[in-house]
Amino acid sequence: MTIEDRFKERYKSGDTPWDVGQPDFNLIEVVTKRPIRSCKVLDIGCGTGDNSIWLAQNLFQVVGTDTSDIALGKAKEKASSANVECDFVLVDFLKHKVEGAPFGFVFDRGCFHSFGSENDRRKFAHNVAAYLEEAGLWLTIVGNADEHRQGPGPPQRTAGDIVLAVEPYFQVLSLTSSQFGSNRPNPPRAWRCLMQKRHVT
Ligand SMILES: C[S@@+](CC[C@H](N)C(=O)[O-])C[C@H]1O[C@@H](n2cnc3c(N)ncnc32)[C@H](O)[C@@H]1O
Repeated sequence: MTIEDRFKERYKSGDTPWDVGQPDFNLIEVVTKRPIRSCKVLDIGCGTGDNSIWLAQNLFQVVGTDTSDIALGKAKEKASSANVECDFVLVDFLKHKVEGAPFGFVFDRGCFHSFGSENDRRKFAHNVAAYLEEAGLWLTIVGNADEHRQGPGPPQRTAGDIVLAVEPYFQVLSLTSSQFGSNRPNPPRAWRCLMQKRHVT
C-alpha cells in the first residue's frame, strides 16, 4: 500500500490523531514573528484544512493540496463555515502538477516527513523549490527522531535527514526542536524548519 493509500484509509476509519482542529502554533509563530507578509501560499498535505484556513484568515491566498478526498471535503466545509476562500485541490504532490505557481510561501505539517526514502524526500524538496518564487520560504513541521516514544506517533526524522534532502535547493534559516501544535496532552516532539529557496545562477 502506498503512503497516500494509507492516509486515505486512516481518514476513512477516523484514525487521524494529527487532525487537532486548530492551526499549529509553529506556523502562527513563524508567520507573525518573522513576519511573513501576505502572499500566495501552498499548504502541501493540507488535510482537513485548519492551517490553510488560518492563513486565509490572515490574508494569504491559499492553495491546499491533498490526496484524500475525505480530508479535502472536510477542508472545504470548514472553509465555507469560516467564510474564507481557499483553493483545495486533489493533487499528489510527488506526481502531479499544482496550478498557481509561483508561491511566496510553502507550508507543510506532517507531509514531507511521511516519506521514508531519502529519494522521495529529495524529490519533495526539489518540487517545493520549483513552485516557489525567487527567495521564497518553506516551513515544514517534522516528527523529531530525538524523541523516544512508546506506542504510536508520527514518523520521526533526524536533523540530518531534513538537511540532506533540502540543502541542494534551500538555505536552512532555522531548525528548531519543538513539538506539534495540539490540544491533546503530551504532543509529539517535532522539528520546525524554515528555509529559503537558493538563488540559482
Ligand atoms: C500527517 S497528515 C497532516 C495533515 C495536515 N497537514 C494537518 O496538519 O492536519 C499528512 C497529510 O499529507 C497527505 N499526503 C500524503 N501524501 C501526499 C502526497 N503525495 N501529496 C499530497 N498530500 C499527501 C495525507 O493525505 C495527509 O492529509
